[in-house]
Amino acid sequence: MRLARRLAIEAASARIGRMETKQRVFSGIQPSGASHLGTYLGALKNWVALQDDYDNYFCLVDLHALTTPQDPKVLRSNIRELAAIFLGVGLDPARSVIFRQSHVSEHAELAWLLNCIAKVGELSRMTQFKDKAQKGGAEAASVGLYDYPVLQAADILLYNAHRVPVGEDQRQHLELSRVLARRFNGTYGETFVVPEPMILETGARVMSLDDPAKKMSKSSPVPSSYIALLDAPDTVRKKIRRAKTDSGSEITASPDKPAITNLLDIYAAMTGKSVEELEADYQGKGYGDFKKDLGEVVVEGLSPIREQALELLGDPKELDDLLEIGAEKARAVAGATLRDAQAKMGLG
Ligand code: TYM
Repeated sequence: MRLARRLAIEAASARIGRMETKQRVFSGIQPSGASHLGTYLGALKNWVALQDDYDNYFCLVDLHALTTPQDPKVLRSNIRELAAIFLGVGLDPARSVIFRQSHVSEHAELAWLLNCIAKVGELSRMTQFKDKAQKGGAEAASVGLYDYPVLQAADILLYNAHRVPVGEDQRQHLELSRVLARRFNGTYGETFVVPEPMILETGARVMSLDDPAKKMSKSSPVPSSYIALLDAPDTVRKKIRRAKTDSGSEITASPDKPAITNLLDIYAAMTGKSVEELEADYQGKGYGDFKKDLGEVVVEGLSPIREQALELLGDPKELDDLLEIGAEKARAVAGATLRDAQAKMGLG
């Protein structure tokens, strides 16, 4: 790794160590497919904005990706790609701890301890499991997929995170993390911070471009349903041009116009304008004009991220080194919390 970069990260880490008054943030993304505009607007964009005000831990949750079948070669390349995207959006290893979940074994170890206080009934109520299991049948779903929210709770509680910036779809998982933290503290004594979700008003639920009733998802088999963060500018323009629209021609947000409402939300989240302002700007104009402008807004927002990420992907050793520096820092915090939890449960 370039010496200057290493020194900058080390100097900043020493500063982070002294700033104990800052609250801690933890969040994660699965490297299980192409990261898309929903991941960016619901999570990454917010993470970047939080960097100066919190003590941040941002994790590539590769153990979570294993809960659905993965081709090892593809997973390996998705992990590097996601690392490049983390840095490409502006996460700064000098201000945030950026690391891979599987490189910090404490995540799996705390998950086991929490498994022993989580209840089957609680996990059976998780809607993401129900949705995913419905597709292939619950009998055939992996135990990992069922247990996934407990591993997520371990991720968060290990760092005693106060705030967890996520999209709307993670609300239920976050609630379970809170329940488990309180239950553990109540049974074994004060151990974990009870985390609060941080969910934005705009961009927290970006819907699919071909079906506004479904959320934009990296597991979709239809690439035109999402805008991947590494899509080329012309692909982005084409996908937006072809995005589903509603009947009528007015650019207004309303429950009976879910497709245009979604596109307005994307526009608002990308520019910081309010939906009302955009409705006024586009009064009397048609879907064609609106989509053309939206295409340019998204291309303008994503191009620097794409260029930066592609450049970083040209130096995989640098990416691996940065993740290892992050893992070392994460292990120091995670190890102390795990030992505390083990001791409280009688394992110390
Ligand atoms: P994942 O990898 O599916 O998504 C990563 C983040 O992106 C948000 N997101 C969206 N936001 C708005 N609109 C969308 N269409 C959209 N799609 C995804 C998600 O809400 C999430 O914030 N279980 C988590 C990963 C995880 C985690 C954690 C998160 C594991 N451990 C601990 C926070 C804390 C997941 O599968 O996210």
